[in-house]
Amino acid sequence: MQRLKTRQIDRLIEDILLLKESRNAVILAHNYQIGEIQDIADYTGDSLKLSRQAAETDADVIVFCGVNFMAETASILCPEKTVLIPEPEAGCSLADTININQLKAWKKKYPDAVVVSYINTTADVKAESDYCCTSTNALKVINAIPLDKEILFLPDVFLGTYLEATTGRKLHLWPGECHVHAGIRPSLVNTIRQQHPDAEFLIHPECGCLTPSMYYLANGDISPKGTHILSTEGMIRYAKESCADCFVIATEVGILYRMKKDNPEKTFLPVNPDAVCEYMKKITLDKVHRSLDEMIYQVKVPEDTASKARRSIDRMLELA
Ligand code: 13P
Ligand code: SF4
Repeated sequence: MQRLKTRQIDRLIEDILLLKESRNAVILAHNYQIGEIQDIADYTGDSLKLSRQAAETDADVIVFCGVNFMAETASILCPEKTVLIPEPEAGCSLADTININQLKAWKKKYPDAVVVSYINTTADVKAESDYCCTSTNALKVINAIPLDKEILFLPDVFLGTYLEATTGRKLHLWPGECHVHAGIRPSLVNTIRQQHPDAEFLIHPECGCLTPSMYYLANGDISPKGTHILSTEGMIRYAKESCADCFVIATEVGILYRMKKDNPEKTFLPVNPDAVCEYMKKITLDKVHRSLDEMIYQVKVPEDTASKARRSIDRMLELA
């Protein structure tokens, strides 16, 4: 029975690879995708790395195994290419916390402010923003804005608070959060870190434990040695390069797949094993196959929105 299932999966993968070749397609997968999808992808990575791959590819078709705002970013950067998402319901609770009308109303209150949007936003919101940023380069983007300028930062309040603490600047913060990362609470961190005091601690800046962790770091209750605030790709790179053998990981658990695959001799412990992004997990091998076979579901950002959104992304890519 198991052997039959393995044969069916192998066959499905073979078909996907053939279709990919005949369509001249590239498969991009976010670090939270299920292992089978990461294994067939041409590139896996964080939001910044995948945006760059989308911008640089010479494929005709981009199959984006991630969530909607990521596929929209690929469409904005490559208007001449066909961008497909295998599951159109792959949304993002963080991106959903602010829409274009809410942003316009916020901007009206602070007409001279510079708007910095985290990449987890819809294309319309990016189009109303001055800069886009990701977890890798948010600090660089804030530091590039003249000190006399007010900044509206959206939508992630934990990342925003971190940026305020690290730059010493007061930002106007949108009160958005991701339901998965908000569930990575300080009490869970304390428990696991007490059990593994020598492990290195890697935190994604969207986490609910980030603000208290920064406070404990400042107080000396958490040792700054061995604590690192990183994007998903930054975490993967760090785990590979570090000579530590045990890591406590504060982000969505899909990231553990590649960490374990790249470093079979090391131990990776999730702060919250239930931190699962159900949107990311909607993409399966069957859906990727169907996507390439039927050329669905196409993601196309209208050019008037795309051209405005592209400016905010290009400003980010120039700085990064
Ligand atoms: P990264 O850019 O660090 O991969 O984060 C994107 C994301 O959606 C995290 O929830
Ligand atoms: Fe959005 Fe959170 Fe899922 Fe990332 S983990 S895609 S922020 S819902």
